[in-house]
Amino acid sequence: MYEAGRPAGPRVPKLGPLGALDVPARPFVKWAGGKTQLLPELRRRVPSDFGHYWEPFVGGGAMLFDMLQQGTADSGSARVHGSSVTINDSNKWLIETYRAICVDVEGVIERLHDLQNEYRTSKGGEKVFYRVRDLGPGDKPAAIAAYVIFLNKTCFNGLWRVNRKGLFNVPHGKRAGQVTICDEDNLRRVSNVLQHVQVSTGDFELSVRAAAPGDFVYFDPPYVPVSASSDFTAYTKEPFGPAEQIRLRDCAIALLARGVKVVLSNADVPFVRELYKPSLGFKIDKVSAVRSINSKADRRGPVGEVIIT
Ligand SMILES: C[S@@+](CC[C@H](N)C(=O)[O-])C[C@H]1O[C@@H](n2cnc3c(N)ncnc32)[C@H](O)[C@@H]1O
Repeated sequence: MYEAGRPAGPRVPKLGPLGALDVPARPFVKWAGGKTQLLPELRRRVPSDFGHYWEPFVGGGAMLFDMLQQGTADSGSARVHGSSVTINDSNKWLIETYRAICVDVEGVIERLHDLQNEYRTSKGGEKVFYRVRDLGPGDKPAAIAAYVIFLNKTCFNGLWRVNRKGLFNVPHGKRAGQVTICDEDNLRRVSNVLQHVQVSTGDFELSVRAAAPGDFVYFDPPYVPVSASSDFTAYTKEPFGPAEQIRLRDCAIALLARGVKVVLSNADVPFVRELYKPSLGFKIDKVSAVRSINSKADRRGPVGEVIIT
């Protein structure tokens, strides 16, 4: 017997290693500043040879999943194995979600299915959205993961924004009824590729302390705002202002000095060009990308971005 799209009976076993024809794991959340569109440019700048891969601002992990695909049609050449990867983000709930998907994907799917069913059977879903949002995630890892994914799929534009108390406060999305909330196949693929990945939460600088000569670090920080009204720093309750941007630049300089390979992305604004001046040893390439998340629809046009090596 089947209940609303979920197989009954024994738990579905984990997928095996990806084969050439398998579908690759994709980001399981839509994240502000997601790098899917920049992947071709980023792939070209991945060093041909490196030790450990570090991603200190992982967010939705577009680059991470690309790096982890093993010989799939969608990716470039085979890249890294999970045991040589460390990811980090200061958003504790997001990192808890990565952990839960890694160790208990079936528990996450079960809870997310329940939320999806409840949401879909209620008129418009709005009441369910606000009840879940305001109840909070509780303290069980699988429930936290289901909470984060559910809110990401049903809130306005997939934004993650918290109030001063650190509580999620994005309103309900008007077209949320059209999205798949629980993509269980992708969640299992994500769990599969995340096995052995090391996961931490906290500040970017601490997270790369152990990076060694020959390692590769990709930094995708909250961008310097293009205009005063864009608010790309409001991911967590700690702001990421000019002082953090300078601290990140200095961290990149320190890593380069000890032989670590570094790639960064940021907005193409004068402040960033000044920070990563060629005289400091950086190379800045302008690339164009359509920023997919902006609370003002008329500001969603192409914006300049740079990749720094
Ligand atoms: C531009 S987003 C990364 C997007 C990601 N590359 C993707 O494809 O979805 C920046 C991330 O940095 C995180 N963040 C903000 N301040 C941080 C800090 N001080 N240390 C580590 N992560 C931080 C945010 O939570 C957010 O997920």
